[in-house]
Amino acid sequence: MEYFKLNNGVMIPKVGLGVSQIPSDVDGVAVVVNAIEAGYKAIDTAEFYGNEDMVGKGIKTSGVAREGIFVTTKVHNQAQQTDDGPIKAFEASLKKLDLDYIDLYLIHWPYPGRFVQTYKALESIYKRGLVKAIGISNFKQHHIQELEKHWEVKPAANQYEHHPYLTQKDVREYCQDEDIQVIAYSPLGRGSTDLLTSDIITSLANKYAKTPAQIILRWNIDNGVAAIPKTTNIARLRENINIFDFKLEKADIEAINSLNQGIRVIRDPDDPSSY
Ligand code: A2P
Repeated sequence: MEYFKLNNGVMIPKVGLGVSQIPSDVDGVAVVVNAIEAGYKAIDTAEFYGNEDMVGKGIKTSGVAREGIFVTTKVHNQAQQTDDGPIKAFEASLKKLDLDYIDLYLIHWPYPGRFVQTYKALESIYKRGLVKAIGISNFKQHHIQELEKHWEVKPAANQYEHHPYLTQKDVREYCQDEDIQVIAYSPLGRGSTDLLTSDIITSLANKYAKTPAQIILRWNIDNGVAAIPKTTNIARLRENINIFDFKLEKADIEAINSLNQGIRVIRDPDDPSSY
């Protein structure tokens, strides 16, 4: 595994496992154990996914040392509506995960009129040493600019939808200029677009003797973006971290950048129905 360094010195694995959509008929604990055995060092969950306990059990079952695994979770919208909501949500997450600290704690969505207050709560949790780093998720440039007027601790990361069909170049460049690590969710376009079978991606897969998914994940990393692909399949778990033995040439990175079509597979953070 390789790592990016966050703005407070904490190291984040370049690829982690996203667990937002583990089907109910799949043994999620086994998925987490399989991922850790395959070499994953990071698991990304959230209060909203309702599976923090499963992640906690998987980590315990795997026998990995606590410091060997980077755990991300997030405070959801309901908890942002009251001043003490985020602290209570954090304590509940810690309990469900059965951990005594979280590596990265994020605001899941920039709840209108509330996210600054929520971030203040995250800063207090950070100052108490209960999280290694704090950050934001689904924040666009205008949300970050609003938050910037109030933050004491700069967010270490912004996690948002990022794949070749939705590059959000403005947000990425803004975050990278501010030294805020971008983390891509749905880095493969969630499998629901034709991205994995598109001409450019398949021809690059042939060129580098890699799979389309590996090309797209490598494109994320080569753009300085960490990624949390989701899969419950053991072969694809392995495939998605087997990307550290090659690099894309600059022209190929640019060819993939040019696929951007502004296609979202998850809702827009400015859509009121997100809240
Ligand atoms: P599956 O769980 O059957 O592997 P994203 O992380 O962009 O949201 O994409 C997740 C989707 O992509 C899931 O449907 C997952 O299906 C599929 N997927 C994950 N890894 C791969 C891969 N290496 N090749 C093809 N599809 C993949």
